[in-house]
Amino acid sequence: MKPRIFRIDPQNIDFGLIKQAAAVLNNRGLVAFPTETVYGLGANALDPKAVAGIFEAKKRPLDDPLIVHIADIEDFHRLVAEIPAVAEKLVNCFWPGPLTVILKKTALVPDIVTTGLETVAVRMPSGEIARSFIKAAGVPVAAPSANMFGRPSPTTAQHVIDDLDGRIDVLLDGGRTDIGVESTVVEVVGGRIVVLRPGGVSVEELESVAGPVEVLSGSEDMLKSPGKYPCHYSPRARVILVEDDLSQVDTVASVVAAMKEIGKRTAVMATQENARSYKGVDVKVLGPGNDGKICASRLFHVLREFDAEKVEVIVAEGIPEKGLGLAVMNRLRKAAGPS
Ligand code: TXA
Ligand code: MG
Repeated sequence: MKPRIFRIDPQNIDFGLIKQAAAVLNNRGLVAFPTETVYGLGANALDPKAVAGIFEAKKRPLDDPLIVHIADIEDFHRLVAEIPAVAEKLVNCFWPGPLTVILKKTALVPDIVTTGLETVAVRMPSGEIARSFIKAAGVPVAAPSANMFGRPSPTTAQHVIDDLDGRIDVLLDGGRTDIGVESTVVEVVGGRIVVLRPGGVSVEELESVAGPVEVLSGSEDMLKSPGKYPCHYSPRARVILVEDDLSQVDTVASVVAAMKEIGKRTAVMATQENARSYKGVDVKVLGPGNDGKICASRLFHVLREFDAEKVEVIVAEGIPEKGLGLAVMNRLRKAAGPS
C-alpha cells in the first residue's frame, strides 16, 4: 500500500495532520517523520507488535536495537532505571537535540526495542515536527532512520519513498532535514562517557560540557553496536575513500584513472577547494573541507544523487575529523566497507 503523505510546513505546523499521523501510530501503524538529523521510521515504543513492524519494513536484523524518541523529560525517567550525574548534565545541555543517551532500561521498555539488551537508547529530538508528533502520540516513539537497512539515511521525504514505498503507512514530509547525519550516540558507564557513534553533537561540544570523552575507533564501534554491520550507509556504488593528506588530489586522480581503465562508471565526491582539480570525470562537491557542518548536511544527499545517476564507483575525498567532520568520516568509512 502507498503511504499517505502529509506535507507539513515546519514554520507553520498543521496540527490536524499531526494528530492523524499520531492516530495511525497509536493504531500499530508505521509513520516516517523528519527530525533535525534524518527521517525516522516511528512506531509505538511500548507496543512490541508495532515495533516488530519497523524491523520488517526496513529489513533490519533483529539484533540491532532502536532509539526511543521522547518529547518530555518525564518519559526519560520512565524509560531508564537510573540517571548518572554526567548523563543528567549532557541531556540538560543537548536536549532537545541530536544526542542519544544509552542507559540501563526499566521494565517498561519491551525487549524487542533493545533487542534483549539491558540498556535503552533515548533521544529527545529538537525538530518541531518530530516534537509535535511525539507529543500528539502520547507515547515514546521507537524510530530508526527511515531507510532500507544498510542504505544511506534519508534526509528528504523522497529518500524515504525511494526506500520504503509500499512498506509504511504515513510519511510526514517536512522538507529537507537540517543536520543531515544521525545523532551522536553515547553510552554512560559509571562516570565515563563513551561515544559509540559520532553524530550531530560534536565530540568537542561534548567535551566542553563533560570533560574528556572516549571515542570508539571505527573497528571497536563495529563490535559495540551502531556499526556492528560493516557495510552501512552505503550507496549502491562502491565507495573508495581517499583520506585527507597532501597528495590527496593526486591519489584521487590515479584511483579514478584505474577505475576508468577497467570500465567502471566513476565519479568523484570532492571538497569545494579541490573540485576544479579533477578533469574528465564527473565531480560533485560535498562542501568546504574545513566545514564539517556543511559536509554533514550534504553527505547522504550527494551519495544518493550518485546512485540516481547510476555511478558505479565513487572516489571520495576525506575531510579533517574536526567538529561534524568526524561524523562525516565515520559514515564514509562505513560506506567504503572494510578495506
Ligand atoms: O538521528 C538519529 O539518531 C536517527 C533519528 C531518526 O533519530 N535515528 C537513528 O537510528 O539513526 P538508527 O536505528 O538508524 O541508529 C541507532 C543506532 C543503531 O545503530 C543501534 O545499534 C544503536 O543506535 N543503539 C540503539 N540502542 C542501543 C543500545 N542499547 N546499545 C548500544 N547501541 C544502541
Ligand atoms: Mg540507521
